Amino acid sequence: AGELSTVVAVDGPSGSGKSSVSKEVARRLGLAYLDTGAMYRAATWWCLDQGVPLADARAVADAVRGLPLEMGVDPDDPTVRVGGTDVTADIRETRISAAVSAVATNLDARAELGRRQRAAIDAERTAGWSGGRGVVAEGRDITTVVAPDADVRVLLTASEEARLARRARELHGTADAAAVAATRDQVVRRDADDSTVVQFQVAADGVVTVDSSHLDLPGTVQAVLDVVQRALAAR
Ligand code: DC
Repeated sequence: AGELSTVVAVDGPSGSGKSSVSKEVARRLGLAYLDTGAMYRAATWWCLDQGVPLADARAVADAVRGLPLEMGVDPDDPTVRVGGTDVTADIRETRISAAVSAVATNLDARAELGRRQRAAIDAERTAGWSGGRGVVAEGRDITTVVAPDADVRVLLTASEEARLARRARELHGTADAAAVAATRDQVVRRDADDSTVVQFQVAADGVVTVDSSHLDLPGTVQAVLDVVQRALAAR
């Protein structure tokens, strides 16, 4: 089983276009889509919902181990539910983005979410939503820690300038100087915090770097599809 399945791992910093690109690659290949960042966000939502003090690492780890999470892996409907509640929109709020590092830097929480991510990937290799076709899993440590054995491993990068402009457009609808300045703190600080526990700025051995700085979304999707094609032809 799983011989014909394809696991594509995509890592990269915020603003690299990772989520849009991974979702579209999954659609084009008929694969499931696993947004692991959404799992960290859902865990953060749960901690806040349950009144868990984020400064208490033990309490955060306990809460994450009990997290009643359901991840939608249909790229056309990646709904995230916690305890039956649809939190897909809520987990994108600024209050979550501002707090998520408390979960992302908690090693016990990472171990728990990593286990669940591996289980979800394994499920798609043999059955799952994709019926065994496989999955595109994206995050910060998928190519290195969660699925180092993935068939295809991509690090999606972009210059800081390009990443800030994309985030500014997402958050403020424009990438003028004021919007970029307002975005800078959030993006640069969060990547710096995240870098203390996961290394995602440099490609690990065997990981193909795709630089999207000068590519639009369709161009970046095509570049990743080319990497997939080459990797599958070689296996
Ligand atoms: O990609 P994103 O912004 O939705 O990620 C949310 C947070 O989770 C971000 O702080 C990085 C962290 N994260 C992580 O540490 N490991 C992953 N595999 C995915 C996300």
